Amino acid sequence: MSPEPSHNPAIEVYGLEDRTFPPPVEVACDALVTGNELHEEAETDYEGFWARQAGDLLTWHREWDTILEWDLPYARWFVGGRLNAAENCVDRHVAAGQGDKVAFHWEGEPGDTRTLTYADLQIEVCRFANVLKGLGVTKGDRVAIYLPMIPELPVAMLACARLGAPHSVVFGGFSSESLAGRIDDAEAKVLVTADGGWRRGKAVPLKDNADVALATTPSIEHVVVVRRTGEDVAMTEGRDQWYHDLVEGASADCPAEPMDAEDLLYLLYTSGTTARPKGIMHTTGGYLTQVAFTHKYVFDLHAHTDVYWCAADIGWVTGHSYIVYGPLVNGATSVMYEGSPDHPGRDRWWDIIERYKVSILYTAPTAVRTFMKWGTAEPAAHDLSSLRVLGSVGEPINPEAWMWYRQHIGGGTCPVVDTWWQTETGAIMISPLPGATTTKPGSATFPLPGVAAEVVDDAGQTVTQGGGYLTLTRPWPSMLRGIYGDPERYQETYWSRFEGRYFAGDGARIDDDGYFWLLGRVDDVMNVSGHRVSTAEVESALVDHPGVAESAVVGAKDEVTGQAIVAFVTLKGEQEASDGLGQELRRHVATKIGPTARPKTVIFTDDLPKTRSGKIMRRLLRDVAEGRDLGDTTTLADPAVVEEIRRRATEAPSED
Ligand code: WT7
Repeated sequence: MSPEPSHNPAIEVYGLEDRTFPPPVEVACDALVTGNELHEEAETDYEGFWARQAGDLLTWHREWDTILEWDLPYARWFVGGRLNAAENCVDRHVAAGQGDKVAFHWEGEPGDTRTLTYADLQIEVCRFANVLKGLGVTKGDRVAIYLPMIPELPVAMLACARLGAPHSVVFGGFSSESLAGRIDDAEAKVLVTADGGWRRGKAVPLKDNADVALATTPSIEHVVVVRRTGEDVAMTEGRDQWYHDLVEGASADCPAEPMDAEDLLYLLYTSGTTARPKGIMHTTGGYLTQVAFTHKYVFDLHAHTDVYWCAADIGWVTGHSYIVYGPLVNGATSVMYEGSPDHPGRDRWWDIIERYKVSILYTAPTAVRTFMKWGTAEPAAHDLSSLRVLGSVGEPINPEAWMWYRQHIGGGTCPVVDTWWQTETGAIMISPLPGATTTKPGSATFPLPGVAAEVVDDAGQTVTQGGGYLTLTRPWPSMLRGIYGDPERYQETYWSRFEGRYFAGDGARIDDDGYFWLLGRVDDVMNVSGHRVSTAEVESALVDHPGVAESAVVGAKDEVTGQAIVAFVTLKGEQEASDGLGQELRRHVATKIGPTARPKTVIFTDDLPKTRSGKIMRRLLRDVAEGRDLGDTTTLADPAVVEEIRRRATEAPSED
């Protein structure tokens, strides 16, 4: 495949793909949407369209006065409306006679299982909400949650939502330091954690990590600890209490706090281009409307018959929107799985799909590529015929992986929906509708009804065909309402590059038929296995090591993880470069930030290529890391450095 000449050389465009797949008859025959009707309705009156969704999909205590107040870059949706998220996710289904319906088929990594009906969920959520109340949590207080993928995680989130206390879930793979930073930024009052969680047969010591964090988090007054692994943990008298002890005596009656549509539902921290993560703010009415709408239509949800499985972790936005809020608002039955896909064998997922008769699977390209590497024997040995719709999210899915997913998991017939969105957008923005859209492998196809996206060039001019920058041109209900405590950064990060437009940070191409093809991040954020990692964060962790003088980190294309982290490191005076030190630095980053941020390769070099103004030339380093030919190096302070780096790069040890 040769690069296509592009309108905008800042973004390289590869991968011309002309296979097309119309919706299969089996799906289209009773799909919720088979034509253009929703798109057309939304184009005529997009505010009215979203208002209809808000009314149809949610239960309100009080109807809104105004659909949208838009004062760029601040949007307020369903102004004056009142509702409660937990009530919409749980109580109203029970009240409607759906109490016996399964909300979660949960499966632990060791093979233990729990079934939670909507009625069970209601009891658990109310009890834990009363526990939080007893610990002094009231409307507006922030609660940090650092849990493995166990039922107590959605329960804790919904308990917070019931009280109107915004939650801040921190992914269990994050380190103590990352947890502490997030707790401090949000000034959380309570931390909910566990003794540990299971991952590849090992207990991940969450409470030990949390204890290190808690040494520097003055805002935390109470810690609630779920017993999961049974490992010994230290309990600090007066601060730490067991979840099961607290819940045992708690009443299952807890009225839901009626919240304003614009009240904060949660904070979720995501990496940016500086080392400090951003607390993305999501509010209640608009967010729930759009996650419910997209969950229903993008997956063509038939809530009474489908078994839905989003295999992400709730610690990321995918889990917030498509394990917790979207599916529960829609009254769906979900599978929730704690552990890794290769424990005890590489067929764990296929076994789960077969046993629970999963009909909708939502996962990431990095997982699909891993399964491709493992071969077709494992999925072929299981009955996957229950599957109807396959989803993909987190990074561009290459056509080979898309085709493999459709063929070997989807039996050659399931539509694949490649869904583009971000932590900031809260919900899916660009995606096919499985009963209506003709797909092309690797394309997220078109903006969803009610969403307006455009590709622009460097000057901000609309590109109708070719490559450029992806922007959103209208407010949408689930958009972020800001960065917690930092309005300037919000304005600067998302709204300053192109006037009047939200800039997503991604490159995109529009083809002759108007299909959108996502090209990845154009800034300094890497995407490793669908997780955003900022180069600056990894660099600051490396420089934190006593032996390191300077570092520059880039993401290089990687077959399995999408991008792999390559770190160029210069050492201090008497430090000697060695394999051992390389490994030590990789470990150091993993402890400081988390395993996702561990560099795959560390390249020691005597100097880093810089422009005359001292800015590190990342483009060039990326070229070196990807083994490409070097571009124009004339702005380098010392061209010899490049040769040196290139030589080192070919010798450097890397992880497999
Ligand atoms: C970034 C957002 C959205 C939940 C998971 C990641 C990339 C996401 C796609 C897709 C190409 C994608 C973008 C985006 N991305 N989905 N279907 N095709 N790229 O959330 O951590 O906020 O990352 O992930 O680069 O900006 P996130």
